[in-house]
Amino acid sequence: MVVRAGAYDDELVKTAKTIASPGRGILAMDESNATCGKRLASIGLENTEANRQAYRTLLVTPPGLGQYISGAILFEETLYQSTVDGKKIVDILTEQKIVPGIKVDKGLVPLTGSNNESWCQGLDGLASREAAYYQQGARFAKWRTVVSIPNGPSELAVKEAAWGLARYAAISQDNGLVPIVEPEILLDGQHGIERTFEVAQKVWAEVFFYMAENNVTFEGILLKPSMVTPGAECKDRATPEQVADYTLKLLHRRIPPAVPGIMFLSGGQSEVEATQNLNAMNQGANPWHVSFSYARALQNTCLKTWAGQPENVKAAQDALLLRAKANSLAQLGKYTS
Ligand code: 13P
Repeated sequence: MVVRAGAYDDELVKTAKTIASPGRGILAMDESNATCGKRLASIGLENTEANRQAYRTLLVTPPGLGQYISGAILFEETLYQSTVDGKKIVDILTEQKIVPGIKVDKGLVPLTGSNNESWCQGLDGLASREAAYYQQGARFAKWRTVVSIPNGPSELAVKEAAWGLARYAAISQDNGLVPIVEPEILLDGQHGIERTFEVAQKVWAEVFFYMAENNVTFEGILLKPSMVTPGAECKDRATPEQVADYTLKLLHRRIPPAVPGIMFLSGGQSEVEATQNLNAMNQGANPWHVSFSYARALQNTCLKTWAGQPENVKAAQDALLLRAKANSLAQLGKYTS
């Protein structure tokens, strides 16, 4: 049997450890142009390159951000973009000791033969795109696929999600990028927390099965799971302690301790809820770094505070720093509301 020994293995392990360092987590700012457009529309701005650049400049320039943030996931446009003052965004991040990352999937499309589910595109040409992203300064990647509980999930959808993630992870490692493995289990639905737990167990079993088949180096990946919560429309709500109990039980059953970091997505939780849940998970020792890779739960107040007005930039950056610091404390299990 030939086992892949990658040229980048040492570097991958080092990058993953840097991102999974105490008191720090990831700022997900990799909204596609379409999603960024929706965010801008919510504050009455047009989806122009200039507006996206202004917003992304605001996100990467708060002084001291690197104390709480170890990595920033960028959309391709931003990896090649400069700030409004003409400085490369990648350079600003590196100066702040924030590792630049890149979203590499090409989004979701309908999965023929399934129960109205989807699959994630992007494997074609991935190796050459990633080699170029590495040259541009990216050191980690993200691939987000989704699993829907109300629509099944069907065996087919779970297998497709897991296989795609495993191929992406192997190709990323071959090109020097630490893959963030993100099978998002969508919050939508009326199901209870037990059902989410059951589906998550199935999904992670398959993801690790196929990653092993593809000779992925587990020490050089990061995971981006959904927390185990009740469906968004479920009447029985869960406390942060219940979310932490179920989620840690899932991780202990399914995630090898070789994996350095678990960086949760916020998935539509409120800012405070996402912080409280993370804090509850860090009340005891864990075999992995348990942290955050939030987009909405870091950006919501920041975006609203900015409202596209230059005079609000400082207040908006303070709002981002406030959430970043709160989640940094939650990573250390020391957050108090
Ligand atoms: P949210 O934290 O807003 O769920 O976004 C994280 C992310 O990167 C989704 O892929």
